[in-house]
Parts: sequence; structure tokens; C-alpha cells
Amino acid sequence: MSQRNNDIETTYTHTYSSRFIIDRDPEFGRMKEMGLENYDRLFFVMDENVERIYRDKILANTVSINQEFHILSVKPEEHSKSIDFYPVLVSFLEEKNAGRYDAVIAVGGGIIIDLVSFTVSTYMRGLPLFIIATTLIGQTDATTAGKTCLNSRNAKNLLGTFYYPIVVYNSIEILRTCPKRITRQGLSEAFKYSLLTDGKALQDIIDFCTHEFDSDVMERIVRKTIESRIAVRKVDPLASNLGHTFGHALEKYSGYTVLHGDAILTGTVMAMTYAVEKGLMKEEEKERIFAMMKEAGLNIYIPEDFQPERLVEYMRKDKKSSSKKLHLVMIQGIGKPYRGLTPFLEADYDDVEDFLKRYTASYPYKKSDYAEYLNKESLD
Ligand SMILES: NC(=O)c1ccc[n+]([C@@H]2O[C@H](COP(=O)([O-])OP(=O)(O)OC[C@H]3O[C@@H](n4cnc5c(N)ncnc54)[C@H](O)[C@@H]3O)[C@@H](O)[C@H]2O)c1
Repeated sequence: MSQRNNDIETTYTHTYSSRFIIDRDPEFGRMKEMGLENYDRLFFVMDENVERIYRDKILANTVSINQEFHILSVKPEEHSKSIDFYPVLVSFLEEKNAGRYDAVIAVGGGIIIDLVSFTVSTYMRGLPLFIIATTLIGQTDATTAGKTCLNSRNAKNLLGTFYYPIVVYNSIEILRTCPKRITRQGLSEAFKYSLLTDGKALQDIIDFCTHEFDSDVMERIVRKTIESRIAVRKVDPLASNLGHTFGHALEKYSGYTVLHGDAILTGTVMAMTYAVEKGLMKEEEKERIFAMMKEAGLNIYIPEDFQPERLVEYMRKDKKSSSKKLHLVMIQGIGKPYRGLTPFLEADYDDVEDFLKRYTASYPYKKSDYAEYLNKESLD
């Protein structure tokens, strides 16, 4: 405690830690190591589709003899992580007097993880939270920065808190049943994290994308991406946002028909091209990274009728930007994030709009059936 002008000031510090279990066992044997036997009761919130496939196996590895448990099944749709659905989960916990000696376990991808993490962080100011993450985004992104999110009635991910799970259980084998289009979103994020750190996962991502599901390769991608994510977060919570200012705007531009990973890869190509124009990155380095994205079959396309002015309007609402300047996360090469006084490059809206007009006119990768194209399990 310190004093200045008779005012009282204090610094609050909270220490949280999370443990990530990465399990290769198809029977989910290491789920038993989550420590759930230490809690009075277990409250599961399960993605309906995941529950249909894995319910019995999950319960067999988590619930101890005579331990009381309850399950809430949730549809994996954006409405479920919204302010309108929040009371449903609160009631599920409240009606059974859930408390600090009980554990809440989210089972699913980013949607269920966001809904449960946000709600649990606010219910009694926090209950013990555990996550069984069943998508690549869930395992490597939605669980690794403590960012919880809910959609407001008008905006995606507007509401949020910081809250940390005690254990995240990541099964590699569970990812086999995940739709390829959903896994592609995680691979796009993994690609981005690798660009921002050491590039070590890039070849694994290409290998995974161009062959049948390989557990060894996937395990390496999960492990490296979690490590990269944690390293990037330590620099600045927003330093992970390579390609996001362009990418988020593209998601909004498309009315969210374009999924996040697909959008941020396109956004990364835009950010790299802008970096080349500004002399921050060599053209050959951009081409080298672009060739890897292409080889992996990740999204590099923009809509045929793309309107740069509309994209810039959405970019104005980016949470890193001010009303006067855009703040862009940039790289100068693989493993070389741009660092000025902050991790962001300040850019004028007009300058970015002019750049996007030139970019759109000369960029050859365009699709007339953009949303339909990105709906495909594999891109050609
Ligand atoms: N909080 C964060 O930091 C953060 C980070 C990234 C993304 N997100 C959020 O995550 C959400 C997207 O999450 P997502 O991509 O993980 O997918 P998701 O939760 O939207 O699930 C996608 C689909 O995959 C199915 N599914 C999930 N796991 C499966 C499995 N193992 N087998 C079969 N089917 C399975 C689901 O039932 C659903 O139909 C978005 O709402 C996004 O905003 C949050």
C-alpha cells in the first residue's frame, strides 16, 4: 500500500495457472488426471453433437462412484453464447445451488467454452472451471488466454471477462470426428501463431492439411500452438491479432458467413501486402509465406465483388483502433513480429482504404460464390 497526497492506493495481483493435458489415448484415459474426484458435484455443459458421440466415454473417465453429476445439453450455435441464453446456464447452476465445492466442466468447441467460461466467471464471482476442448480452436485458442466472450444482442463477442480454467483436457483423437471445415479454422489460427513466433509449426500444418489425419502431426501442432499462444499473450493480450483488423472486418462484411480462421488468413495476406508497401517486409518473404498458405489449402481468396470502402467502415470498429488511427499487428517475416513503441503499426484510415483499392484491383484470387466456396470441407 502506498500513499500520494493522502489518497490511498493499492495494487491488486491475482495469480492464476492452468494445466493443459494433451492425451493420445482413444479411450481418453488421461481424463482421470483432471482431479474432478476432489469436487462434491460435477456440472457438465455439453455441446449436443459431442454429447451424442462421446457422452459415455467422458462420464466413465470423469465421474467417481457415488459422485453426483448433472448435464446441460447445449446447441452449438452463436445464440448459445449470447446474453439471451446466459440465464439458462445461470438457472442450471442456481436451481441446484452450485457452489465453490462443485466443478463446472465445459465440453465442446469455442461456443460452449465461451458460454461456460463467461457464465462461470460471473456466477458467485467464479466457480472451479474445467474444459474438455473438442475442436482445434477450443484446444489452442479459446482456452489459452483466459478471454471469455458472450454476444450481445447486436455484436459478437462484445461482453467478456478474464477467467482461467484449472485444467484443459485436449484429446487428439477427439479431433478426428470434428468437421474438416471447423478444423481448418484452427489450422489457420495455428498458422498465424507460428508466423508470430518461430515458424516451427508451419511445415506440420502443411503436412496435416495435405495428408490423411495424422495424430503425431496433430499433437505437435496442438502443443506448439498452445506454447506460441502463451508466448504471444505475454507480450500484449492483443499482439496475437495478426490479420485480425482486416479479418474481423471481413467476417462482419460477410454477415458472419465467413468463419473466423478463413477470414484472418485473408486478413494476414492483406496485412503482409501492406507491410511490403510500407517497406516493413520483403516481397520475397511475403511470397514465401503466401506459397505455404496456398500449399496447405488455407483460404487466400476474397469475394469477386469486394468493396474496400465497406471493409474500412467495419475496420473503424476494431477494438485496437482509435477514431483517428488504425492499429495493425504486422510481421516483418516468419518469427519477426513488427515492434514499434507498441506491438502495433499506426495507420491512417484513408491510406489503408487507398491501399485496399489498389490491392483489390490487382489481386488475382477472387471467387464469385465466396460463401459457398468457404463452406466446403476442403478448399481447392
Ligand atoms: N474466447 C476466445 O479466446 C476465442 C478464441 C477463438 C474462438 N472463439 C470462439 O469460438 C467459436 C468457434 O468455436 P469452434 O471453431 O471451436 O467451433 P464450435 O464450438 O462453433 O463448433 C463447431 C461445430 O463442430 C462440432 N464439434 C465440436 N467438436 C466436435 C467433435 N470433436 N466431433 C464432432 N463434432 C464436433 C460442434 O457440434 C459444431 O457443430 C466462435 O464463437 C469464436 O468466437 C473464442
